[in-house]
Amino acid sequence: MYSVWLLILCTTNVFSTNILYISPVPSPSHHIWNRIFGFELAKRGHNVTFFSPDNDNNESGNYSHILMDGLYDQFNKNINLKDMLDYTATQAITEFVKMCMVSCEAYLESKGLQFILNYPSNFKFSLIIFDVSMGSCLYPLLHRFDYPPAVAVTPFLLPPYVAYNFGNLLNPSYTPWYNLPYSHEMTFMQRVWNSAHMYTEIILRNVKLYKDEHEKTKQIFGEVPPMEVLERHFSLLLTNTNPILNGPQPLAPNVIAVGGLHTRKPSQVPQDLLTILDGATNGVILFSLGTNIRSDQIDHKARKAVLDAFSKIKETVIWKFESTIDGLPKNVIVREWLPQNDILGHPNVKLLFGHGGGLSIQEAIYHGVPIICVPFMLDQHFNAHNLVAKKLGILLEFRLITTDYVLKKLREILDDPTYVNNVRKLSRQFRDQAITPLDKAVFWAEYVMRHGGANFSTSFRDSSFYSLLGLDVCGLLIVIIASISIVVFKLVKLNLMWINTV
Ligand SMILES: *[C@@H]1O[C@H](CO)[C@@H](O)[C@H](O)[C@H]1NC(C)=O
Ligand SMILES: *[C@@H]1O[C@H](CO)[C@@H](O)[C@H](O)[C@H]1NC(C)=O
Ligand SMILES: *[C@@H]1O[C@H](CO)[C@@H](O)[C@H](O)[C@H]1NC(C)=O
Ligand SMILES: *[C@@H]1O[C@H](CO)[C@@H](O)[C@H](O)[C@H]1NC(C)=O
Repeated sequence: MYSVWLLILCTTNVFSTNILYISPVPSPSHHIWNRIFGFELAKRGHNVTFFSPDNDNNESGNYSHILMDGLYDQFNKNINLKDMLDYTATQAITEFVKMCMVSCEAYLESKGLQFILNYPSNFKFSLIIFDVSMGSCLYPLLHRFDYPPAVAVTPFLLPPYVAYNFGNLLNPSYTPWYNLPYSHEMTFMQRVWNSAHMYTEIILRNVKLYKDEHEKTKQIFGEVPPMEVLERHFSLLLTNTNPILNGPQPLAPNVIAVGGLHTRKPSQVPQDLLTILDGATNGVILFSLGTNIRSDQIDHKARKAVLDAFSKIKETVIWKFESTIDGLPKNVIVREWLPQNDILGHPNVKLLFGHGGGLSIQEAIYHGVPIICVPFMLDQHFNAHNLVAKKLGILLEFRLITTDYVLKKLREILDDPTYVNNVRKLSRQFRDQAITPLDKAVFWAEYVMRHGGANFSTSFRDSSFYSLLGLDVCGLLIVIIASISIVVFKLVKLNLMWINTV
């Protein structure tokens, strides 16, 4: 009898912790970060259903995956990542909105979405986790599943437009907007430019993007509350920032920093790579342009210059490259896929040569490896400048690439111990936390489930833009000062006239 009760208790427990994890951003790095969080929840016994555009054939007992099919196809057809190199910061804002709309259409047409919508109408999720870095197009799923507790996440550091919507306006006077190559200390004109971009993006998202997406989703979801109302349902925002890795920032209580959640101790690398790593007594450089830019998309001249530079150094280079290369120097090893984390953890690795993506940088710092950044787009510019400012790495401009330039930069970072010492120091500080970022993220997800939400948002989150910035107050003050000035001016003039007549 007892065991029957236990069985019922256990099964109800499993049933009561169905988690829907929506990771809709068409970028493998988002998938990687979110998946690590999803896995951890599954390991702790939650039944995680992961909905994302990336292939994922892990169907272990507590984890299942639903494919958001067609998203990458639509995305690649409509958006050329290489064009982004030439975008101005202002263009980047409008292109981002375009990307959100292209993705929105693809979400709505996906069979994966239909599959989820066909769940029994009484199917209950105990929690919805949502990567809110891009658009709001799938927010209506909250409505469809009758508003279970919900947590938002963003692996994209803390984008200002997301921060704002959670009641945590980032101050543009010292927070560089992610598409601009500024550091935390800005000149007056940089602050003007920085504020203009940050506010434009925030306003565009709320005034236009959310409205357009809402209109579009009607064909699938019917009448649902406006996106900003749905978004208000997320109790917490877990962000991929950390004061050691990304610099300190004031955060509201509902914004929880779990930066570097994906970092972990290295596992054993495959034997062939291990042999190479162990044998590379002059050190190893890991070359990887991340998951969005394929190395075979970069132009031939630049590639040849980089290869020539590599052929002139004694270090071994391990290059993540998606096709074959002719005339490979002896010390360059190419693989289509690399276990980046595990390689970075090998003691012979001296340098990460990469694109400056947020996740890679966090990984490199975690493992104490300095970085050469070739930023291409989005936050990569800001990340690169941040690294340079802290002497954790150096910046290499893609446009300037020649063999000599690359060689000079390589020697600059490899022969100066300042970089590695600085990175190792940060690595020790980052690892010294009361609780790992992954445990912290799991704690807060479970907290929200246990309490059916969390009321941690400040009233900031419900205020209007003009009252938040005090625009109305400033406006009134200006009117009062102007009125007084006019009156005083008139009086003085009258007085002068009177003196003149006397
Ligand atoms: C886990 O969630 C899926 C929904 O995606 C559901 O079909 C399955 O029955 C759940 N498993 C358990 C054990 O509750
Ligand atoms: C599959 O998912 C489980 C979580 O349920 C995770 O622990 C495991 O590492 C995953 N396996 C692979 C091969 O990704
Ligand atoms: C699934 O959940 C159970 C607890 O219910 C846990 O013991 C097990 O390790 C989990 N399995 C995986 C593969 O994560
Ligand atoms: C949050 O506040 C609302 C409104 O006062 C209340 O209905 C809800 O129960 C509170 N949630 C929690 C988790 O305390």
